[in-house]
Amino acid sequence: MAQSRERVPVQILEHDQIASTLAQRIASVIRSANAAGRPAVLGLATGSTPIGIYRELIRMHRDEGLDFSNVVSFNLDEYYPMAPDSIHSYHRYMWENLFEHINIPRENVNIPPGDIPREQVEAHCAGYEEKIRGLGGIDFQLLGIGKTGHIGFNEPGSGVESRTRLIALDTVTRRDAAADFFGEDNVPTEAITMGVASILDAKEVALIATGEHKASVIRRAVEDEPDPDVAATYLQTHPNATFYLDPAAAAELTRVKTPWVVGEVRWTRELEIRAVIWLSESVGKSILRLDNYDYREHHLSSLLARYGSAGPLNGEVFNALISKIRGKSKLPQGKRIVVFSPHPDDDVISMGGILNKLHHNDNDIVVAYQTSGNIAVFDHEVRRYLDFLNRFGHDFDLGDGRIEDLTGRMSKFLDEKHPGQVDIPEVQQIKQRIREAEAVSGIETFGMRKDQACFLKLPFYQTGKVRKDAIGPEDVRITLELLEDHKPEIVFVAGDLSDPHGTHRMCLDAVMRALAEYSGDAPEVWYYRGAWQEWPVSEADVLVPLSEDELSKKILAIYKHQSQKDKAPFPGQDDREFWQRVEERNMGTARIVDRLGLPEYFAMEAYVVRRNGKPLEVETVSTSALGAPSHRRRASDFPGAGAGAQPGLQGDAGEVTELGGQTTT
Ligand code: F6R
Repeated sequence: MAQSRERVPVQILEHDQIASTLAQRIASVIRSANAAGRPAVLGLATGSTPIGIYRELIRMHRDEGLDFSNVVSFNLDEYYPMAPDSIHSYHRYMWENLFEHINIPRENVNIPPGDIPREQVEAHCAGYEEKIRGLGGIDFQLLGIGKTGHIGFNEPGSGVESRTRLIALDTVTRRDAAADFFGEDNVPTEAITMGVASILDAKEVALIATGEHKASVIRRAVEDEPDPDVAATYLQTHPNATFYLDPAAAAELTRVKTPWVVGEVRWTRELEIRAVIWLSESVGKSILRLDNYDYREHHLSSLLARYGSAGPLNGEVFNALISKIRGKSKLPQGKRIVVFSPHPDDDVISMGGILNKLHHNDNDIVVAYQTSGNIAVFDHEVRRYLDFLNRFGHDFDLGDGRIEDLTGRMSKFLDEKHPGQVDIPEVQQIKQRIREAEAVSGIETFGMRKDQACFLKLPFYQTGKVRKDAIGPEDVRITLELLEDHKPEIVFVAGDLSDPHGTHRMCLDAVMRALAEYSGDAPEVWYYRGAWQEWPVSEADVLVPLSEDELSKKILAIYKHQSQKDKAPFPGQDDREFWQRVEERNMGTARIVDRLGLPEYFAMEAYVVRRNGKPLEVETVSTSALGAPSHRRRASDFPGAGAGAQPGLQGDAGEVTELGGQTTT
């Protein structure tokens, strides 16, 4: 059975189905408890994952009359110490994101208090447990999962018997929260959390995880034995616990990643490519050197049987991969292109290499920066510009007092600002302008013009806070207007959905909703990644080679985003600067391609491409045209390599590819 490694029920749902499925489930728990004449007892979580579920519950309350008057809720946790009205408090989170919008009686809401004296915590925790027991236990417990595998704040080491208590937060958890708190030092070191045993007592448990950044901990939680190092593994012992995952969070599960290892597989071209790449990496041999024995010894006999022997199969996959490699001359030329960049640096971080090539291929490109990115500018950066403005005003005699008034007001605000306080409009504006100027300077590195940058300033982002609003009609309207104006044949969008605040996912949502309403021909959609991770070679449809010069130019463009350099305000778990991540990822992809036995490039970007929601047809050179695949690569093996081809023309790595100049024959 394909799921044989899974030790707990798992449902993989499309991202937007998760919220509706769970909201429906919660609604039915409420209705059946109420029909039985008793309150429904819900265990609730905070964090970014349940937001969609809460929005859907609010909608159901508003549009369908879902009644919360006989619901009692218990939240999993709260930071300690924490004032309930702080922007970081889970009390405030729950009221803003759910309770204020439904008819739950205030006295039915239970959230661990972050503002009681330390000596009262133990008694309060015991009372919390007692209250849950008194109501007959939790009917339905909603859970997220942290990168440490925590449920609630049950950090590594939490025992299966643990109950509601004060706990020290793990470094990984505190670092994860650092962005929300404007710095790791501001993150509380402790929290009050329901224990593992308190969670396991619930009648039904649903753990929700979305995004690539959860994939590896999900694999451990689902497939490894129960282990105090990963509290979520304990859910395997619960009689009615289910994991609800989106495809990104499920990506590391064995049945998804290497299904041939756990059962029969219906082979598709995409799976064949994936399996051969996996085999090549597992046995440490290039694709063309894999033999029948390798396939048989690694659960791939059924794949081998489709081709008779390793040779033709190796050749087929080798050629499929070769045809994914597209240098400058195989990239779009003379097309109308819109590059959507969630923040004003994702364009150069994630696709600086291809952007440079596309510009030089005479495409008509607009880079649409979707959000202003203003919250990610440090205050000290603003001070520097204020000082510059004062000096500038003085030098050119612009000072009728207005510049000094303005800069003085802003400086005073910054002097008195508390961590996390929402900026006054003038400061938000200057932060936005700083990022706009950097974005323009970034694309100018490639010789692009200022007027090719367009700043959408989508309203969902303009809360001034780390937490954003949902994508609304105005966000979609602004995006649609751009599409209608520019009529792109190709759009680029961010396909890395695990940025710290979910902004990339929301920006993608805005584009997809606008495309659904768009009157023109559906453009080809190129998904890029890069800031947080890169597409694996097995998933990429297009691999774009970069020469050393091209990678340097891309890095130079990233440097132009000075407000994000040296130390980005929102770096995620990775201490490195963005340009360092890019260098490592792009060179890493090239190394993987080289190890597979394909040409050796300096660096590579990877893209997933969809036309009308479907993958691009992979054009392959037929095996027969090549003759029997050889273990050595020859220039003539590569599509486009003609007689008289000359290796090593120009600085464009793609040209080198097609001419085979960098092959290791
Ligand atoms: C929150 C909680 C935590 C989160 C977990 C995931 O009440 O108990 O366990 O569910 O840290 O957080 P997100 O959803 O923000 O990734």
